[in-house]
Amino acid sequence: MRLLRVPARLTTPRLVLRTWRAEDRPAFTALNADPMVMEHIMGTPMSQAESDQLAERIDEHWQERGYGLYAVELRSTGELAGFIGLHQHLAVPQEVEIGWRLAPSAWGRGLATEGAMAVRDLAYGQLRLRSLIAITVAANVRSVRVMEKLGMTYWRQVRFQEWLLTVYRGIPDAMTDTPSQAREGAR
Ligand SMILES: CC(C)(COP(=O)(O)OP(=O)(O)OC[C@H]1O[C@@H](n2cnc3c(N)ncnc32)[C@H](O)[C@@H]1OP(=O)(O)O)[C@@H](O)C(=O)NCCC(=O)NCCS
Repeated sequence: MRLLRVPARLTTPRLVLRTWRAEDRPAFTALNADPMVMEHIMGTPMSQAESDQLAERIDEHWQERGYGLYAVELRSTGELAGFIGLHQHLAVPQEVEIGWRLAPSAWGRGLATEGAMAVRDLAYGQLRLRSLIAITVAANVRSVRVMEKLGMTYWRQVRFQEWLLTVYRGIPDAMTDTPSQAREGAR
């Protein structure tokens, strides 16, 4: 198992991304129980017990791998808005997924993109990942738009349990720049 360590806290102009605290649980439960939030996510809105199990899986992922899904706090209010971060998805276990889930009150202001850009830069920088994937269902147009704004492009569809998942993939700019620089050099 590869153990990589990333900072426990990242800041962007409007967000703090940090590791989780016990007092995050009520807001996390409310997020996962919201039908708007869960509309395109596998399964249905979560019960308290399901949300607690997810919180425990997120903690275990951090402990096992040294990186994971960050709790996202709004800098203006200190409120927990959701999560953004990295994890391994069972549907494509050979890749690292970048993912996000925010409360509707935070939507439509570019916050998911802002936080995800910081996580993407960490993944390609400190973690030296050569690719990232993002997984959704095609109907989740907001999430697909965030993927596009991160520079990711459609890669493939994957069947996972009863779902047909859409997978986007990105690679560091440096890897896409290399061939064009080589072409320029050849002119
Ligand atoms: C997906 C999610 C994180 C996006 O958060 P956000 O902070 O609103 O995202 P951003 O503001 O950074 O970007 C959203 C983009 O979607 C676009 N968008 C919003 N509603 C849209 C719609 N109905 N149709 C098309 N595009 C839409 C926005 O215009 C924006 O793109 P733009 O910057 O080019 O205008 C948020 O909606 C969410 O948490 N949803 C529920 C959980 C979820 O589905 N998570 C992803 C699972 S794969």
